Amino acid sequence: MHLDAQRCCNIRISQTQQPTLEKNNTMTKKPSSLISINDLTNEQVLSLFKTADEIQQDKNHFFDTCKNKILALLFFEPSTRTYFSFSSAMHRLGGSVIGFSQTESTSVAKGESLEDTAKVMSYYSDLMVIRHPEIGAVQKIANVTQIPIINGGEGAGEHPTQTLYDLYTIYKNFNRLDVTIGLYGDLKFSRPNHSLMLAASRFGANFVCIAPDELQMPDSYIETAKRDGAKVTITDNVKTHLKNIDVLYVSRLQKERLPSNIDPDYFKHNTAVNKELLSHMNETTIIMHPLPRIDEIHREIDDDLRAKYFEQAANGVPVRMAVILFYLGIK
Ligand code: NCD
Repeated sequence: MHLDAQRCCNIRISQTQQPTLEKNNTMTKKPSSLISINDLTNEQVLSLFKTADEIQQDKNHFFDTCKNKILALLFFEPSTRTYFSFSSAMHRLGGSVIGFSQTESTSVAKGESLEDTAKVMSYYSDLMVIRHPEIGAVQKIANVTQIPIINGGEGAGEHPTQTLYDLYTIYKNFNRLDVTIGLYGDLKFSRPNHSLMLAASRFGANFVCIAPDELQMPDSYIETAKRDGAKVTITDNVKTHLKNIDVLYVSRLQKERLPSNIDPDYFKHNTAVNKELLSHMNETTIIMHPLPRIDEIHREIDDDLRAKYFEQAANGVPVRMAVILFYLGIK
């Protein structure tokens, strides 16, 4: 694995790693949480990959290591992959899962605050994954709970566990992470792009950000990646740069977050990833997508060997198993 030490800097330590004063007035260190991908060092990321590899080799390797442990999933936004792959991961480790994927059946519907709901759920569980439409919600929860909290996707902010298995998929395909990634689609509101840019730049990746101006990558992520040594090219033309990228990372337009002046059907009228586009792409370039895909990748390319989005989704389980083991302090 290529690891550029110069590019391992700028690690933000989340507030949750600070010692907290317990009620009995003794200083105890609260277990760390995963709010931003920058809460993990490069070494920790690589160690999670090692655990995921062990799991890939033998699915039962860690079976029952989470017996008597409870994972709570608090999802305030729709989800398929994150909700069910975390759930599947915990079941494969022999643990139990509680929680909700819609708030109608909980006291949130009666007006209970986010903090109260999460605090109470933390008494019923050992580890909690939160998905929420507002940036800052996961940190708010981490501030009022004493168990590790995992960000399962927060508004137009970050999605760190998505990035872990995105990087794992890149690593499995290239055996290195210092690749050139073409980020194509909604770079402004689609959170997997943000965490991926923060993390991959620390491992030596460069980026081509391909989007119309109104959906381009926010400056803060570009600046952080550049500070980590990444080369960043900004364009709205996917074809021009196709030959120079190793990974074409596509994302859907986040219809639920788009301002009304942006056409939610952008990919119906602009270059989607189809057979024609693939004819201009190198044989070694891979196509990834966090899914769900809508119009941006046509199903006609699903059988192309370069299409890796389902392999990527499958990697979500071993990587999230590794995440659970790490944050529960088991491995
Ligand atoms: C992504 C998300 O929720 O940010 N989905 C996922 O977790 N795989 C991407 C998306 O919804 O577009």
